[in-house]
Amino acid sequence: METPKFIIPHAATITKADRQNMNGNKSAILWYTGLSGSGKSTLANKVEEKLFEMGLHTYVLDGDNIRMGLNKGLGFTAEDRTENIRRIGEVAKLFVDAGVLVSTAFISPYIADRDMVRSIVNEGEFVEILIDCPIEICEQRDVKGLYQKARAGIIKNFTGVSDPYEAPLNAEIIVKTGELSLEESAQQVIDYLVKNKYITQ
Ligand code: ADX
Repeated sequence: METPKFIIPHAATITKADRQNMNGNKSAILWYTGLSGSGKSTLANKVEEKLFEMGLHTYVLDGDNIRMGLNKGLGFTAEDRTENIRRIGEVAKLFVDAGVLVSTAFISPYIADRDMVRSIVNEGEFVEILIDCPIEICEQRDVKGLYQKARAGIIKNFTGVSDPYEAPLNAEIIVKTGELSLEESAQQVIDYLVKNKYITQ
């Protein structure tokens, strides 16, 4: 898409640093990636609960919700998934600017798409969290009954069944949700945020 010629961005008087200071937290994108049913949304929401209890400013952008609103009309072809992630990346960047610790829970199966989002924010503002759960476990859970439909060929291009998933090569955090409890998984993310000074509690 071409950028219109006469768009001149306005410089804000209140800066990202001002907002972070007021909020008491650094802002960043906590980018959860993994198969359907791996526990992305569940974990993102659990971590958000903990951050919220600490009085920090957080928000979760969740796959199924965004696809019903902002990204209504996008499907699951490679092009549509790329556009899905591009828009979410831009929205998440705005949240970073607003001083918020924003979490995103999308399969985001392609390395290039996730790296693109990483490239539009500053160093340290993109924390990639691989939800590393074997497909057998995701499929066994099959919370939404989608794996069964994918195996039956009713749903086409289903990630992990008939469409690829490219795991990150250098994720900041790898959470094995098939082995850890929800509480332990959430604590692993919080520990990383404390250790790397995103939060100070
Ligand atoms: S992404 O690949 O573009 O990042 P996203 O996370 O937004 O995917 O949406 C994934 C959710 O859509 C899944 O959890 C599942 O509920 C649903 N879904 C429907 N069709 C598919 C499909 N073909 N592949 C993966 N998920 C699908």
